[in-house]
This record gives sequence, structure tokens and C-alpha cells, in this order.
Amino acid sequence: MKPHQQKWIRHFENNRLNRREPEWDLPFAMEEKKRRALAWSLAEYQLGDGGGPCCLIARDADAYRASSDSTQRVTDMWFREEAEHSRLLSGAVTRLSGTFVTDTFAFRQFQRVRRFMGAQFEMLVLLQVEIISTVYYRIIRKHCDDKPIADMCGLILRDETGHISYHRDRLCADHPRGWNAIQRAWFYFLGYACAVVLWLGHGRALRDIGMRNGDFFAQVHRGLRGFVRSVGRRARRWRIEAVIAEKGNSCATAHSC
Ligand SMILES: [Fe+2]
Ligand SMILES: [Fe+2]
Repeated sequence: MKPHQQKWIRHFENNRLNRREPEWDLPFAMEEKKRRALAWSLAEYQLGDGGGPCCLIARDADAYRASSDSTQRVTDMWFREEAEHSRLLSGAVTRLSGTFVTDTFAFRQFQRVRRFMGAQFEMLVLLQVEIISTVYYRIIRKHCDDKPIADMCGLILRDETGHISYHRDRLCADHPRGWNAIQRAWFYFLGYACAVVLWLGHGRALRDIGMRNGDFFAQVHRGLRGFVRSVGRRARRWRIEAVIAEKGNSCATAHSC
């Protein structure tokens, strides 16, 4: 088992505890324009955030999951939290008297891309979506003016922060020397592409609930840049820890001889 997988299995187990369900039955009062925008946007998000096939669907997904018991376990635990997001979002859509969405053109294309490329690419794209989604949920939490929906965003943000950190460890384990310039450029390119898709679909709704122009892409940029920098930092830290551990082992061997 890779060392980080044990840590993340523990994390996902602990993260199931102390989850306070949003109080969906609290009295509801919201300006109609905001209600309509939120209901529409969150209904689409309910489909995308765990509401569709809630597992890896790349052509080699089974081979990836079967690579070790711990890989299978940690991947399944990650997707179990995604299914929980869909359940929470259903509560918000119901509260907003929205109409559930079961299929969209963008959703079908996204599934197609995920299926076509390999599992590693699929997970990279899902990571991008998670980074962009944290921006989306922060904006919703800030502007929704509704405690249960804001609490729901808080729960999802707590999970997504863990998911992003899990991917950071996973990528650092696969790239112990960190990313090179081409990998970083590719990451930014994919990230901005995902952000543009989300903006085209939800930008108007976000503006309708009170987000200022420019906020979205400024936060996306900070999220992507923060992730890229943290991959470099964590890979460096792991290399130093490995050198220290190696020195410790060789000292212990020398003393025991
Ligand atoms: Fe999610
Ligand atoms: Fe996630």
C-alpha cells in the first residue's frame, strides 16, 4: 500500500463523522430572481456532482481500481462522498422548488471525454472540476442568503478540500520530483478550459445571485496556482523526509553492526 493511501482511508472514515445535516425545514424566504437562478444552477450541479455515474468510467478504470486493494478502497471512498454531494444538492433543489435535471448536452460530452481517455486523465479532469467547484460553492455560500444552503456548501467544501489534498498526495507519489514546466502548463490549460465551461453554463446564474464580474476567474486562478505550488512544496518535503529516513536507517544499521 502506498503510504498516502492509508492516510486517506483514515481521513475518509473520519470525515463521515460529525456531519450536521442542513436544516432543510427552516422557514424559506428569498427574492424570486435569486431563487430561480439558484434552483436552476444547483439542479444542474446535482447531476454533475455525484448525480450521474458515481465512479471512474474511463476505459481502463477497472484495471486502475484493481491495481491494489487500497487503490480500490480509497477510490470508492472518494466517490462515496461525491454521491453524498448529490444527495445534499437534492435537498437544496427541493428547498428551492427547483426541477431536477437528468441529462444535459454538456453532461453527456463530459461523460464522453471521461470514458475516452484513461483513468489518470479522468482523475486529473475530476481534480480540475473539484478546484473549480470549490470556487462555485464559495460563491453560492456567500450570496445565497439561506442558512441551510450555505451549510450544505460548507459540508461540500469540507469534502472537496480533502479530495483536492488527496489528489495532491496521489500526484506527488506518482511524480516524486514534482511537475515539470510542460505538466504545469497542461494543468493550467485544462483548469481554465473547465472554468470556461462552468462559466458558460453557470456564469449568468452566479451574476444573478450577486457575484461581481471578475470574482470567478480571479478565484479560479488562485485555486489553480495554489494547487500547482503546493504540488512542488509537497514533493520537495517528501524528498527531504525520504533522505532523512534513509540516513536514519543507515545510522541504525551502522550502530547495530
Ligand atoms: Fe463533489
Ligand atoms: Fe470531490
